Amino acid sequence: MPIALVRRPGPSLVDGIVTHQEPQPIDLVLALAQWEAYVGALRSAGWDVTEVEPADDCPDAVFVEDALVVFDDLAVITRPGAPSRAAEVEGAERAAITQGLEVVRIEPPATFDGGDVLKVGRTVYVGRTARTSDDGVEQLRAILAPRGWEVVGVPVTSVLHLKSAVTALPDGTVVGHLDHVDDASAYPRFLAVPEPAGAHVVLLDDHRLLMSTGAPATAEMYRSLGYRTVEVDISEFEKLDGCVTCLSVRIRR
Ligand code: GLY
Repeated sequence: MPIALVRRPGPSLVDGIVTHQEPQPIDLVLALAQWEAYVGALRSAGWDVTEVEPADDCPDAVFVEDALVVFDDLAVITRPGAPSRAAEVEGAERAAITQGLEVVRIEPPATFDGGDVLKVGRTVYVGRTARTSDDGVEQLRAILAPRGWEVVGVPVTSVLHLKSAVTALPDGTVVGHLDHVDDASAYPRFLAVPEPAGAHVVLLDDHRLLMSTGAPATAEMYRSLGYRTVEVDISEFEKLDGCVTCLSVRIRR
């Protein structure tokens, strides 16, 4: 059974970082209900959902994907680019060890956010963003090259993370909204979607896509391609530049 690591949002979520939109108040009760529904969607799709210990002093800790990235049996513990997120990695590392994963760390002075990583087959696209430094990209390349992964750095200028701009369908087609994609030609197969939130999909399996309710036209497009969609309302996390991908770490072994 595939495993999804998640991290329950704490009261400090209301102080989460907002970079690419106007700040809006966060409804904490609604956020928790939305998070429970997100976890429920993963469980209903057959995922074994495991909670990483809370990091309630870190407002953005719910976006657990930024703290670790898993490649086969290896967990890369990141070095978040936002100082308020630095302490998130401690519990994330303990969770990785509990899962029996080998652990390596991104070392200072590099910075690296897991949301900047998009895996497509054995290719790892890494966004060069305000959060992930050139040194971070190079460290990941050095870690992964001997393990048979190719790291490709890509520019990201208009959104927080690479996966705020693009994700990929089960057949490897990269999907994104052209307003947020710096260079669609970086990807061998690219499909433009009609709504920015439609660019964010979690692959529940080869046929089902978990996505936000905020992109109904894109959901319809995916269904016309033969996929089933599972849509969850994550409005409170989207107010913090979050999306369905960064709310979990998926481990498929
Ligand atoms: N609010 C998510 C982040 O800025 O990292």
